[in-house]
Amino acid sequence: MTDIERVGVVGCGQMGAGIAEVCARAGLEVKVAETTGEALELGRTRLRNSLDRAAQRGKITEEERDTTVERLTFTTDLGEFADRDLVIEAVVENEQVKTEIFQVLDQVVTRQDAILASNTSSIPLVKLAVATSRPDHVMGIHFFNPAPVQKLVELIPALTTSEGTVARAEAMVANVLGKHSIRAQDRSGFVVNALLVPYLLSAIRMYESGAAGREDIDNGMELGCAHPMGPLRLSDMVGLDTIVAIANSLYDEFKEPLYAAPPLLQRMVEAGHHGRKTGVGFYSYD
Ligand code: CAA
Repeated sequence: MTDIERVGVVGCGQMGAGIAEVCARAGLEVKVAETTGEALELGRTRLRNSLDRAAQRGKITEEERDTTVERLTFTTDLGEFADRDLVIEAVVENEQVKTEIFQVLDQVVTRQDAILASNTSSIPLVKLAVATSRPDHVMGIHFFNPAPVQKLVELIPALTTSEGTVARAEAMVANVLGKHSIRAQDRSGFVVNALLVPYLLSAIRMYESGAAGREDIDNGMELGCAHPMGPLRLSDMVGLDTIVAIANSLYDEFKEPLYAAPPLLQRMVEAGHHGRKTGVGFYSYD
């Protein structure tokens, strides 16, 4: 069914922790890497809390939670990823940081047909692929927030990725993770963000112009269109820094004004108001 048993996840923030949880709950053995012991502890706590919540809500039994915890190990040394069949990188949206990680993974992962994947939402996969000596085994595997809940995964082959690599990822996502996948070309925004982000930017422009208040914008889309979250609440959840990174990437690629990050969004990010993760965005969080 799949030849992937040992997974590595680089980064244990919001997305990395969610991806690690999805993989461990699916029965895979998961090793999570962070840069510092402190970040690793934060990530471990984030994962543990999420699993506790899932057990409290009866989504998994306490025994399943405990076996899932046993499948998760943590490290600050990427050298421990030597035996991984699949690595998913989910660190900050910074091309240089991601490129360096792929260069290290290329050196340490011994299985030559291991899949080296990125959860990036804004960096061309081909740039990460050509930073390695195995560009045919590098691709995008893009999860949605919160990863344990959202059913979709986007699969993005770089121009260099082999069909065999994509097919193995596709089979693993469907048969092991139980998620639905769609394929997207390696162009900015892929499918979902190319549609979602201009909508979020429009909502931010509407708020910025004073045309409507934040609750009215959010309630409008939640109650008028049955969206689970309005666009400003959703922006806060995704992270305003991430939205800017995606908007900049879309704008660089297509030069369309609708992709340009509005000044208010840029100023909020410069102020450190990144949404839920920093406690303040369009709304405040405890
Ligand atoms: N981790 C795990 N499970 C979570 C969770 C989390 N962080 N947050 C919520 N859940 C689960 C809850 O346990 C609950 O499960 P059950 O119904 O089985 O008990 C379910 O999700 C609903 O949660 P709540 O009742 O607490 O809250 P809600 O009904 O308001 O749902 C939500 C919360 C799932 C986040 C929902 O509002 C939603 O789907 N919002 C839209 C999210 C979205 O659009 N995500 C995509 C963003 S774009 C992206 O991620 C791509 C990118 O590159 C930027």
